[in-house]
Amino acid sequence: MVSKEHVQRLWTVGSYSDTIGPSFLSMAAHLVEAATVDADDRVLDIACGTGNVAITAARRGAQVTGLDITPDMLEDARENAAIAGVDDIEWREGDATELPFEDDAFDVTLSCVGHMFANPPDAASLELRRVTKSGGRIAFTSWTPRSVVPAMAKTLQEYLPPNPDASPPPFLWGDEEVVQERLNDGVSDVSFETGVVEQLSLSPSHSWEMIRSQSGIFIVALEDVDEDDYPALSEDMIATIEEYFDDSQNTVSMEYLITTATVD
Ligand SMILES: C[S@@+](CC[C@H](N)C(=O)[O-])C[C@H]1O[C@@H](n2cnc3c(N)ncnc32)[C@H](O)[C@@H]1O
Repeated sequence: MVSKEHVQRLWTVGSYSDTIGPSFLSMAAHLVEAATVDADDRVLDIACGTGNVAITAARRGAQVTGLDITPDMLEDARENAAIAGVDDIEWREGDATELPFEDDAFDVTLSCVGHMFANPPDAASLELRRVTKSGGRIAFTSWTPRSVVPAMAKTLQEYLPPNPDASPPPFLWGDEEVVQERLNDGVSDVSFETGVVEQLSLSPSHSWEMIRSQSGIFIVALEDVDEDDYPALSEDMIATIEEYFDDSQNTVSMEYLITTATVD
């Protein structure tokens, strides 16, 4: 089991808040829309990061709580909320597998490429349902297993030492069958839709340069790659990204799955 300090480091190094977080804004809006958040709702945003979903929901008039394990993310979320002029969001530090809230505390519980990183996944799944009232909605996004981020993770894996203690891949939350199994109890009306984040980039090499220098998860993992293997890894990564690159738009397509369900 990885420590809380290790998880916090993954999301603190690099500069997620300045570049990566803002590129996911359309997915946040899609999630809030899919969950039909309105002004009467008490909403929880799990693994809220810099506040994309929490602030989008608060701008609809909902009463919002944002929770994240990483204090630096929460600091940036507070700043974003102040700029957006929504000052009544409650920000809490905590773990998605052990939420510091009573049963049935929320009408809508959301997570945008967030709770997918919590371990063990079954605990995250139970907590999502526990804090949502009967008749309330849960909705979350994950990269689909065929999407660019899992493809890059697979390429990276080939250059890392084997890790027998590795957690299940987070992207299983983007696989409809696995999600059905994980939500098999206590919810109904499970439905799925996909969406795409189009990340602007001048070339596949620029995209890799951005990720290797700014994404904490990749920065930390690259510390375990043999220096001599680095040029081959870079070449493979650029070839992987190329598969998702649209030259007519200068974008990398990042496909995600939205799951929505009603709590029984
Ligand atoms: C890819 S970011 C997504 C942030 C935000 N939801 C967004 O849409 O931009 C993943 C977030 O999950 C948080 N996180 C990772 N593991 C967590 C856990 N076990 N409990 C709560 N938050 C967690 C990280 O701190 C980070 O802010």
